[in-house]
Amino acid sequence: MSARKIFVTTALPYANGKFHIGHIMEYIQADTWVRAQRMQGSQVNFVGADDAHGAPIMIAAEKAGKTPQQFVADIAAGRKQYLDGFHIAFDNWHSTDAPENHALAQQIYLDLKAAGLIETRTIEQFFDPEKAMFLPDRFIKGECPRCHAKDQYGDNCEVCGAVYAPTELINPYSALSGAKPELKTSEHFFFKLSDERCVAFLKEWTQNGVHVQPEVAAKVREWFGTRTNPDGSTSTGLDDWDISRDAPYFGIEIPDAPGKYFYVWLDAPIGYLASLKNLLDKRGESYEAYMADPQLEQVHFIGKDIITFHTLFWPATLKFSGRKTPDKICVHGFLTVNNGEKMSKSRGTGLDPLKYLQLGMNPEWLRYYLGAKLNGRNEDIDFNPEDFMARVNADLIGKYVNIASRAAGFIAKRFGGQLGSVSSDGQALLTELRAQQGDIVAAYEARDTARAARDIMLLCDRVNAYVDTNKPWELARQEGQDARLHDVCTTCIEAFRLLTIYLKPMLPHVAQQVEGFLQVAPLAFADAATLLGAHHAIGPYQHLMQRVAVEQLDALFALPEPEKVTPGGEEIAPGITIDDFAKVDLRIAKIVECKAVEGSAKLLQLTLDAGEGRLRNVFSGISSMYRPEQLQGKLTVLVANLAPRKMKFGVSEGMVLAASHADEKAHPGLYVLEPYPGAEPGMRIR
Ligand code: 2FM
Ligand code: ZN
Repeated sequence: MSARKIFVTTALPYANGKFHIGHIMEYIQADTWVRAQRMQGSQVNFVGADDAHGAPIMIAAEKAGKTPQQFVADIAAGRKQYLDGFHIAFDNWHSTDAPENHALAQQIYLDLKAAGLIETRTIEQFFDPEKAMFLPDRFIKGECPRCHAKDQYGDNCEVCGAVYAPTELINPYSALSGAKPELKTSEHFFFKLSDERCVAFLKEWTQNGVHVQPEVAAKVREWFGTRTNPDGSTSTGLDDWDISRDAPYFGIEIPDAPGKYFYVWLDAPIGYLASLKNLLDKRGESYEAYMADPQLEQVHFIGKDIITFHTLFWPATLKFSGRKTPDKICVHGFLTVNNGEKMSKSRGTGLDPLKYLQLGMNPEWLRYYLGAKLNGRNEDIDFNPEDFMARVNADLIGKYVNIASRAAGFIAKRFGGQLGSVSSDGQALLTELRAQQGDIVAAYEARDTARAARDIMLLCDRVNAYVDTNKPWELARQEGQDARLHDVCTTCIEAFRLLTIYLKPMLPHVAQQVEGFLQVAPLAFADAATLLGAHHAIGPYQHLMQRVAVEQLDALFALPEPEKVTPGGEEIAPGITIDDFAKVDLRIAKIVECKAVEGSAKLLQLTLDAGEGRLRNVFSGISSMYRPEQLQGKLTVLVANLAPRKMKFGVSEGMVLAASHADEKAHPGLYVLEPYPGAEPGMRIR
């Protein structure tokens, strides 16, 4: 049989936030599967990308004062530390805003249109007159029509759980500008999923037992049935899918439709293909030829919250644009921490993956722990700190790592680092270990890494029982037992090598260290059939893994230090002495005249009396806050010994004091100082 050829992806994360532990769990699951495939000889391309488009990202970029492109690039720059940190080895990481994706999305759309599956329709939607844009449901708020709770989102009420259309909200307002939204019509593009060709295809594709897990197929089946709409009416079958959004929108333009963009979820999965194409282009391989290979398998790892997109929209998009459809959609559940809050996309609280790495915690502890809990079904799993410690310390280290440390010392000290031969009881043990390989490989294939971990730990127990029976530490003390000691320790090392092969997809870095220690080439599943053999020299043993310390878990879950308070948006300046302060001569001055400065939007011109028997001319950048007549006649504070400064509009002889926030953009406002009544021009401030 020739090698399997597989194209694997994980869901593309929105480029508006850092990775949270839910992302990392999915990537670890997929990476483990990919590594297990490669260890069987499969040729895999494993790609990811940032999901760059959509209104929320456009709005977040605007808030951050960046172009969406810059905003997304800055997020992308932060990805590597997580991926490298957890030994997640994508072959490529790209962006849905890349040229490959623009071209692919537009072509796929044109192909769907040619298939007669695109239709335009005029719809009514809320429009923000201040921002001059149509508002996504999430950006419309108002009073719940049912329980009258204030400030509820446009699609459902978080207080009473009611589901409704944004148009049913009482006193709706734009969450962007606060403006009252207006209903406005616009032409939208729809993908006709209700077309009988689509329905027939999707029913077969989702229900034939091939492409999705049974529990996912059952969920999807509900969507083909009858359901109740937000307005109380019922519908049956699939609704057409609205795939367009109006400008301004950060997305891909729809061909021949000025001002219309693809809804982010149309082009997001196409980003899988764009990332693959980018990878193959870089290698000088043909994307078209790769995709045309009938043997190619296409596998997507996703979370349970995006099943609709991947089991209906995405296969239909591919099918009816004349492309290859996915072979498998692998759905996982959410990760909770201490049975606590859901690690969803929006609330990634609890276990901060970067903090985990920064604390020096071993990434392969987490890979193993999550692997030991994931069973390939669409079920939530829980991260429990005590359980984590037990699985890592008692199982991984106590059962697996210890086998090597128990045997390696004797091989080095007593046998010059060379292995001996394995006698019949050792051979029997190795045979037992090899007999489990089929089940372990099958468990990896089914993403049932929990079963793989269980099988492997049982095998570790067998090997440890062999050690306990043969007691190499006693053999070492006994006269004439050298050959048996060599045999027993060799058996342990050979067994350890087999166990390492089995664990390698979950523990790639540990396996690499073991390969160094055993002085062997990178291990694959096929290597389990062989022995290192007598006279094979192994290297010095170095401890493979530390135990988890309870302090590390405490630190991981400790609440973050309260954010540093910076008064007025900036820290207090470095200390000065009273003499330093005395250098600044501050005087009370009367504003005898105040006028606007022609040609300057910022400045006011003040004529000040500081009791000097002459008047001073001072320019001050305060016109955004004060009209001249508001200041005239008032007392204020003047820096009287500031060197005169020549400005475009004349010489400024000093400066008046005013208060403002360090970030004037975010906190506009500038306030001139005024003394309590009784102060007189010329008085010094000390
Ligand atoms: O739900 C999400 O986070 C989406 N950004 C996933 C997109 S997956 C694929 F379609 F790109
Ligand atoms: Zn309500």
